Amino acid sequence: MNIGIIGLGFVGLSFAAVLGSKKIPVIGMDTNQDKLKKIYNSKSPFYEPDIDKFLKNALSKTLRLTDNFTNVVSNSDIIFLTVGTPKSKSGYIDLSMLKNASKSIGIAIKKLKKTPIIVVKSTVVPGTAVDVVIPTIEKFSSKKHGKNFHVLSNPEFLKEGSAINDTLNPHLIVIGGLNSKPVTKLSNFYKKLYGEKIKIMKTNSQTAEMIKYANNSFLATKISFINQISALCQSIPGTNVDEIAEAIGYDPRIGNLFLKAGPGYGGSCLPKDLSTLIHYSSKIGNDPSLLKAVQKTNNIQIHQIMKILKKNLVTLKNKNITILGLSFKENSDDIRESRSIELIKILLKNGCKVTAHDPKSIENTKLIFDKKINYSNSITNSLKNSDCAIIMTAWENYKKLTNHSFTNMNKKFIIDSRRILTQKNLDVNYIGLGLGNN
Ligand code: UDX
Repeated sequence: MNIGIIGLGFVGLSFAAVLGSKKIPVIGMDTNQDKLKKIYNSKSPFYEPDIDKFLKNALSKTLRLTDNFTNVVSNSDIIFLTVGTPKSKSGYIDLSMLKNASKSIGIAIKKLKKTPIIVVKSTVVPGTAVDVVIPTIEKFSSKKHGKNFHVLSNPEFLKEGSAINDTLNPHLIVIGGLNSKPVTKLSNFYKKLYGEKIKIMKTNSQTAEMIKYANNSFLATKISFINQISALCQSIPGTNVDEIAEAIGYDPRIGNLFLKAGPGYGGSCLPKDLSTLIHYSSKIGNDPSLLKAVQKTNNIQIHQIMKILKKNLVTLKNKNITILGLSFKENSDDIRESRSIELIKILLKNGCKVTAHDPKSIENTKLIFDKKINYSNSITNSLKNSDCAIIMTAWENYKKLTNHSFTNMNKKFIIDSRRILTQKNLDVNYIGLGLGNN
């Protein structure tokens, strides 16, 4: 079975690297030449643990690369569509890359003799496979869905920072599509890849598409829920959000994952998917009241940090603030929708002087703030003369900070939005978000 993957972002590249390393014939396709060049040299265009190693292994085995649609389509039995579906300016989903890819697939299969299976892995609103992908391919190929080609939906659940591990060990495979032959073929492919015991759920494509939004919205809801409790704890002396999360997490009806309070969720998925689902719900006449509250709770969470800052520094103008962590989560260089970026914008508006440190994301952050803030590759230098250090991302390096690390600060004042230093009994003014002791 030959596999094609169109779009080498987080999902596509991780999948290509894993398949190639398992000696499955796979062609990865992307139209971005710079990206392809890097990948060809076993260098991922983004930081992701283990991916370069897997890429190198895959390229030495069965992974091939191309920038050509005809090449990937004519040489593959199953073609995964993993193109980006970013948020448009209006906050809704931008399907232009998916439409372009569908058009190019249509043109490429026009003269094809075989019957390829096209699998939509990109996150798309319910109805996209049926209303957009199938008609576009039919239009440009003059061929018939269900006869000359098949389209299935197969949402992806991997997380940045553990993309390779998640691709190697998915908790579930969802396959949406009504024609049993291609569904069985895709399902057999996955069984061969992951073993007979892999949990596969078969449904129609609209439900498969909706599962992804329900999944991410639920995760966002859990985080906003615990962040609201965290904000409450902030005002109740003696309370500790982590102990509350641990206790409720023991209730099997709740579960202990995604209950880590912090500065709010960011990244390329949760904020975007929630926003899309809110737009989509309103569009079809449903008031997404809960989802809107989840989003609002996330947006206001960083104001908890501002509240603490204002209370402790009195005036913010010209204060030196150090931001430790720019990426939306540890083990990633992704700053999309990162709460750190939003916090820096607010700090700048308040006249603060910001110095930022991150092990991987400084270059990406420069593209946003350029010379408006200072950058430091060393934690010690970033803390020099600082009036407050705010830990925003739970990088391992920050967990190792000790009293000694803060000696050159102007004021030894730490706000820890992830509470990674709570156990250290530091000789500083330490405020953990969600700890009601201040
Ligand atoms: C998410 C989904 O988890 C994944 O299934 C989907 O395929 C893509 O979107 P990702 O955005 O890569 O993955 O990272 P995730 O681990 O979900 O974290 C998202 C944000 O939530 C981060 O900013 C993280 O710091 C925050 N978060 C996560 C919390 O604040 N608390 C938690 O308990 C978990």
